[in-house]
Amino acid sequence: MNSTILGTGSYVPNRVLTNADLESMVETSDAWIAERTGIRERRLVESGQACSDLALEAAQRALTTANVNASDLDLILLATCTGDNPLPSTACLLQNRLGATRAAACDISAACCGFVYALSIADAYVKTGMRYVLVIGSEVMSAITDWTDRNTCVLFGDGAGAVVLGPGSHDAGILSTHLHANGRLSDMIQVPGGGSKAPGSKEILDNKQCFIKMKGNETFKIAVKSMEEAAHEAVTANGVTMSEIDVFIPHQANMRILKAVSQRLGLPQEKLMINLDKFGNTSAASIPLALDEAVISQRIKTGDLVLLAAFGAGLTWASALVRW
Ligand code: UT7
Repeated sequence: MNSTILGTGSYVPNRVLTNADLESMVETSDAWIAERTGIRERRLVESGQACSDLALEAAQRALTTANVNASDLDLILLATCTGDNPLPSTACLLQNRLGATRAAACDISAACCGFVYALSIADAYVKTGMRYVLVIGSEVMSAITDWTDRNTCVLFGDGAGAVVLGPGSHDAGILSTHLHANGRLSDMIQVPGGGSKAPGSKEILDNKQCFIKMKGNETFKIAVKSMEEAAHEAVTANGVTMSEIDVFIPHQANMRILKAVSQRLGLPQEKLMINLDKFGNTSAASIPLALDEAVISQRIKTGDLVLLAAFGAGLTWASALVRW
């Protein structure tokens, strides 16, 4: 028996930061950002709003569409690299706010791949007898963004997406997940300070070591290759062909990456789900945010074959194939 996605939900904060707004913050232009990334605007939290606040909204919506009570959840897995605090896990804060008193809860740290990693773990538990697992990707990327660095600040946004996973049938649900990592390339995307190696201090802050640093151009090339590889792995493992994929939902990092991957896979543009023009790169939230939009807009229909592919810091890359 497969595990199946019983419901989806998402949430983005109200505050919009447009490319035009960024023109007054760093030396950039709407034209450069739109052409090089495909992003036109992104959402940012209001002061005081944290990862758990976004996660709560997305989770409540997913529970409602799944018709599952929070008190029936067995496990909460929250993928994030921008949790409310280093301790306790944001998943535990969420567990309390949802009233999910029976649920075990922990955070999953796999950067932009976090949601697919968490989905894979949840899938394994449901397949082996657990009933309801809440899987969330929630990020406040604005908290780790250096708003004076034009190489990164134009890319990221805040948001959350969630799914409720439960028992399904033999021929529908999560058909497979594939996870990968290569720690040799850990310096491609990193936040060098603020952890146990270089704990938060005035010096760390002054040197902007608590913000995200990325070797954008090198990362770009590896992202295309890795997501292509993970997508092929998913279809091969299930004995289907790429032409049978109905909806492709890749991690929303850069429009040129998404188009290059779909082209290499031979997937036409109409099968590619894109919403990064509105939300930017929301890291672990990007796939569930796009998935929920695809469900709400009825781009995904019962029986569809949905391919998820992610790539991110670590480096990590992953895929999942879902029969809706
Ligand atoms: O989610 C995790 C995975 N992340 C990714 O997959 C991100 C992958 N990388 C990318 O999306 C792209 O590499 C970027 C959007 C970050 C950069 O695009 P690029 O086409 O790779 O540009 P580049 O870094 O090669 O820079 C080209 C030029 C440089 O100027 P010079 O040195 O040629 O004079 C940059 O300084 O563009 C300049 N530039 C900018 N110009 C205007 C870089 N950022 C900006 C900016 N506005 N915001």
